[in-house]
Amino acid sequence: MLHDPNRIYIFDTTLRDGEQVPGCQLSTVEKIEIGKALEKLGVDIIEAGFPISSPGDFQSVVELSKAIREPVICALTRANKGDIDCAAEALKSAKRPRIHTGIGASDNHIKYKFNSTREAILERAVEAVKYAKSFVEDIEFYAEDAGRADNVFLAKMVEAVIAAGATVVNIPDTNGYCLPEQYGEKILFLKENVKNIDQAIISVHCHNDLGLATANSIAGIQNGARQVECTINGIGERAGNTALEEVVMILKTHKSLNFTHKVNSKHLYELSGMVSRMMRMPVQPNKAIVGKNAFAHSSGIHQDGVLKHRETYEIINPEDVGIDQSEIILTARSGRHALNHHLERLGYTMDRIDLDQVYERFLTMADGKKEIKDDDILLLMGDRAESNYKDGLSIKSLQVSCGDQASPEASIKLHYKGTDHEASSNGNGPVDATIKAIEKIIGRNFNIKEFNIHSIHSGSDDVSKVDMLVMNEGKSYKGYGFSTDIVRASANAYLDALNKFV
Ligand code: KIV
Ligand code: ZN
Repeated sequence: MLHDPNRIYIFDTTLRDGEQVPGCQLSTVEKIEIGKALEKLGVDIIEAGFPISSPGDFQSVVELSKAIREPVICALTRANKGDIDCAAEALKSAKRPRIHTGIGASDNHIKYKFNSTREAILERAVEAVKYAKSFVEDIEFYAEDAGRADNVFLAKMVEAVIAAGATVVNIPDTNGYCLPEQYGEKILFLKENVKNIDQAIISVHCHNDLGLATANSIAGIQNGARQVECTINGIGERAGNTALEEVVMILKTHKSLNFTHKVNSKHLYELSGMVSRMMRMPVQPNKAIVGKNAFAHSSGIHQDGVLKHRETYEIINPEDVGIDQSEIILTARSGRHALNHHLERLGYTMDRIDLDQVYERFLTMADGKKEIKDDDILLLMGDRAESNYKDGLSIKSLQVSCGDQASPEASIKLHYKGTDHEASSNGNGPVDATIKAIEKIIGRNFNIKEFNIHSIHSGSDDVSKVDMLVMNEGKSYKGYGFSTDIVRASANAYLDALNKFV
């Protein structure tokens, strides 16, 4: 098979760089669960851990090496024999093992971290790659803080490690310092100035300290890199790493970039939730691609546009990332179109509803609340039928007597098509008497298939919510009623359902 020059390799480091976030440590079992989900997602490489850092990390790399068969399993080391021995041991069972070794490349790191010289560091880099190569074939070398390193020295280092056997050269912007243009130029400089660069894949590893991680990674691949290191939800040291979901959806959305990869974007949302739950690290609501609000529309103008044609305000189909559909959030800024969308979803059809009246009452309710949920809409509809429905049945008065000394009896006055109608009935309890009195007026028996009463909060002064499933001639509708009076709430629910039968 011909090698695809535009193939992007997705290197996931959620379990290594991502797990470095304070408080986000995972157990080995959790890591395996995430590892399997990453395998299903289709990533090419999973960085499983930094084995020398702790016995737990070592064990996780061992277990991931056994459990994961398709992606390459990678283990991180510093440029020393002890780290490399430990990584090689942890990777023993891996089907496709990779050692990721490296050392600082910027003068800042060379001088202050290592108290060394460029020449000595270069020698250590080469030695580390050669030593790692004695264990496994696939060696990735990272030139730490490459973002701030001198490009000429960096090119020299990259050339030397490739000659020593590195198959991938990672150019990390460790401190998230670069601008996209600078970072892109750095990758291009290496492409053009490292003689043996065609013998290795260039990898980008960008941190998000200035919010540029994803932009820098894309600039990197546009200038010749073919591997992107990233994490789910963009988690990682400090402000985090490049977010995997962002890279994948940029490549999918901008087809003109002409890059290919193996990730199935439909699993992104699920995996984001899994990582967030296991790491106890909430995803910010406005996070691109996977945040709670990424496909939620709340302004009236946007809602109207999306309902007319999704693409007016959405560049990504939510189904492509595993979300069923966009969300139209009802707030005081929503218009009739958005309200009607939810009414229809809840079974209220346009032809029976007086939308202007409902909308007016909706606005009064929304002014006092941040967001209107389904229950609020049902409350709105089950409460005052006379103003919700065109020609609807509504209660003008209801009188009920019951107790130890009296057989339950209800008298009701209904308003229907401009006229009032009255009836009374006995029944097997006050609710039954009320339903029978209503049936006397409408002259038909409807079949109540389900009847549920719930309290909304608690306490004897609480509002009751009644829902009923009413059937007639093969059709069934659900009705909702609310009141502090259970009998009144039941009558409201019954009439709400009847009003849905045309
Ligand atoms: O940010 C970085 O430089 C790293 C390396 C260890 C690859 O995470
Ligand atoms: Zn990093």
